[in-house]
Amino acid sequence: MLSSTFRRSRREASDDVNASGSAKNHVFVARVLPDVAMRELDALDAAVHVHRAHHPPSRQELLSRAAGASALITLLSEQVDDELLGVAGPELRVVANCAVGYDNIDLAAAERRGVVVTNTPGVLDDATADLTLALMLAASRRVVEADRFVRAGNAWTWDPEMFVGLDISAGATLGIVGVGRIGIAVGRRARAFGLRLLGTRISQRVREEANELGVEEVELATLLADSDVVTLHCPLSSSTRHLIGAPELHVMPSHALLVNTSRGAVIDERALVTALEEGTIGGAALDVFEHEPDVDPRLLELDNVITLPHIGSAGRATRDAMALLAVRNVSAVLSGQAPLTAVRAP
Ligand code: DGY
Repeated sequence: MLSSTFRRSRREASDDVNASGSAKNHVFVARVLPDVAMRELDALDAAVHVHRAHHPPSRQELLSRAAGASALITLLSEQVDDELLGVAGPELRVVANCAVGYDNIDLAAAERRGVVVTNTPGVLDDATADLTLALMLAASRRVVEADRFVRAGNAWTWDPEMFVGLDISAGATLGIVGVGRIGIAVGRRARAFGLRLLGTRISQRVREEANELGVEEVELATLLADSDVVTLHCPLSSSTRHLIGAPELHVMPSHALLVNTSRGAVIDERALVTALEEGTIGGAALDVFEHEPDVDPRLLELDNVITLPHIGSAGRATRDAMALLAVRNVSAVLSGQAPLTAVRAP
């Protein structure tokens, strides 16, 4: 069930939160944000227009709302490219992405045009790590498949071979691809389960913590070959797009599970479907998809696949914190202060 904000979406698709705010600054918000953030928006000294829906604004609406805006609050579904930044014009000072990932934003174009880009790092690490563990446990112990079995009204009795899965606390190995803040948060949780930890693409920022946790740094190929569960936590960039494709999937053991709570396109989804259909790997638990929100229908046919609608950060306090951070970044830049969490300041 969707929250009360869904009911609000039945109103006009886009209207003013704070039409009485100073006309000097115009802010466009690409979606209804949690109430705490809507209240802070209301207090901004700006005219604020909100796309009041739970689907993204059309490209046309985004372009027309961006024109003359001083700030944009975007989500990962909005493509902030050179065209949009150009249409926005010289008034635009900040694009505040309400996400830690910013692969939807052309950073070089923003820098060229002197636009500050901000994201929401830190506040969603634990929520995303929690969901990663939930997926890891659900996939290894076939929780979703077993739930579907009971709901379908199948006859059953306790059986030694029924829904037998992978023991993940009995000396299993977890491979973390992309050890940054979220990867570390996953590692901490996995340690409590007694898992051996392998890591690749370890960020300097967390290297000490990774060492303390006992993360063994290895090449990607070794990690894939030696892990029972592989979890992806790298940002999407030109160097990580399709990082996991057919050759990588073939290196993984046939019982291994792949968990993705990062970005869908880090995996070549067609190659993944083939690997799952052919039994090259044991299963996948996916919170993100290459062509979101479209999900390859073949994935939905497979019992050994869990599919979630990109809810890694969907904890109440986390979503509130993300939205507040986005609004506060806008507020800081519009009042001439440094942004709180700039991705790259011009
Ligand atoms: C992000 O923040 O980048 C997530 O994918 C959405 O929470």
